[in-house]
Amino acid sequence: MAFWTSVTFLLVLVVLSWANGALSFDEKQLFSLKKLQWAQRDEAGSCFLQKSRTQNGANILEMKHQHYCSGPIRDLDEKLKKRLISEDNRVKSIQFRIKNLISNQKDFTPQTQIPINSGIKLQTLNYIVTITLGSRNLTVIVDTGSDLTWVQCQPCKLCYSQPEPLFNPLISPSYQSVQCKSQECQTLQSATGNLGSCGTNNPSICNYLVTYGDGSYTRGELGKDRLILGTTPVDDFVFGCGRNNKGLFGSASGLMGLGRSDLSLVSQTSNAFGGVFSYCLPDSDAAASGSLVLGPDATVFKNLTPISYTRLVQNPQLFSFYILNLTGTSIGGVNLQSPSFGKVGILIDSGTVITRLPPSIYTALKTEFLKQFSGYPSAPGFSILDTCFNLTSYEEVNIPTLKMDFEGGSEMSVDVSGMFYFVKRDASQVCLALASLAYENEIGIIGNYQQRNMRVVYDTKEMKVGFAKEICSFN
Ligand SMILES: *[C@@H]1O[C@H](CO)[C@@H](O)[C@H](O)[C@H]1NC(C)=O
Ligand SMILES: *[C@@H]1O[C@H](CO)[C@@H](O)[C@H](O)[C@H]1NC(C)=O
Ligand SMILES: *[C@@H]1O[C@H](CO)[C@@H](O)[C@H](O)[C@H]1NC(C)=O
Repeated sequence: MAFWTSVTFLLVLVVLSWANGALSFDEKQLFSLKKLQWAQRDEAGSCFLQKSRTQNGANILEMKHQHYCSGPIRDLDEKLKKRLISEDNRVKSIQFRIKNLISNQKDFTPQTQIPINSGIKLQTLNYIVTITLGSRNLTVIVDTGSDLTWVQCQPCKLCYSQPEPLFNPLISPSYQSVQCKSQECQTLQSATGNLGSCGTNNPSICNYLVTYGDGSYTRGELGKDRLILGTTPVDDFVFGCGRNNKGLFGSASGLMGLGRSDLSLVSQTSNAFGGVFSYCLPDSDAAASGSLVLGPDATVFKNLTPISYTRLVQNPQLFSFYILNLTGTSIGGVNLQSPSFGKVGILIDSGTVITRLPPSIYTALKTEFLKQFSGYPSAPGFSILDTCFNLTSYEEVNIPTLKMDFEGGSEMSVDVSGMFYFVKRDASQVCLALASLAYENEIGIIGNYQQRNMRVVYDTKEMKVGFAKEICSFN
């Protein structure tokens, strides 16, 4: 018995080293529990100042998981739990915004509907890149779910702490305030849901407000300065000079808005980059890097499978979101049934962590997952995650993976690193990293956890989004 156990173990080892830690058994992937747990990292992580380079006219910015750039990690479990709870508010707020846009009510204010979580100062589970604004290097969160790019700005009324010096418009000769009467100020409403307002002290300046629904917000004046992405300069880039900022931004200096409205970075740089960008989000390994590529040149990608495109769902009311037509879903190769396929679109967002699915799809998925991943001891649920296991006594497990099908035969295969969320580092509470929406008619969201190790291409000119397998790296 012991002999056969060792033989099996050796065989597994051989197979593992041969396949570099992940092996496909049809629609299941072997996952080494020891390899991808949240690493213990108590030293202050200083991975600010991400690199960039230019290749074939595309600008490639190094992308990191912000988790590892936020200093010492203490009380991680508590922080993660709070993060997921706040994220639930972000998701509720997105639903709220969408309902209002569809019913064409213009006067909503999300902050009156969604509880504000005061005093939150958490690490985020988001991705960061470094940009140069008015000759200053600033590390910002990458968000495809919002439009306005902003940075914390001097003089500041309320700024959270950040390791990089605050942007100071007074010492940037190329900085200009955006005028209250200008067209840029008018576009704030479609970009942020809030009207631009004229300053009280200086009535000619344009003030903005962005609320993210999780209690996070930024408020300040709209300005213009020279932006450099990699090596490409973009003059008169319109952004928020944030003087009152609070929330789940970790210690990033601000945020890059990659939505679809006129004020987004994608729209403002479309002359330089053709309205095309893509990213590869690395897993939470401290050493892992990914890339944000600006520009359409696909030869700079390191995709292992062809890019599989689906069209963006055209909904004039939801213009700023990236919405796809989800036509099917399978788990471990077994197709799920749901009346919602092909009806409610699904939004793809780099700023939401956990994927949310309509209840009928989530329930079918969970049932099928439990059927295929049976025999493992269960563990209590965690926040929004309700399917958890105690896997401390396993070296590796074979995980049924998720595949999503989109209109036009496009497919997105979730990497095995995006299937489980490690609540406890010792693997005693490992949860299926997916959650249900409250109602069937709400719009699903593909979160960043399920987009790891894949090239996701956003083409706003040809109105399509594509997926391909890629092991993320910067170099
Ligand atoms: C910004 O970063 C680049 C390296 O990416 C460096 O060469 C440059 O000196 C930095 N600029 C400032 C103002 O720190
Ligand atoms: C989604 O795609 C299916 C299959 O091609 C199609 O029947 C359906 O009308 C599409 N839904 C939307 C919202 O475009
Ligand atoms: C998890 O499982 C291990 C071994 O099976 C057991 O010793 C441990 O108490 C369990 N942990 C929890 C939190 O249930």
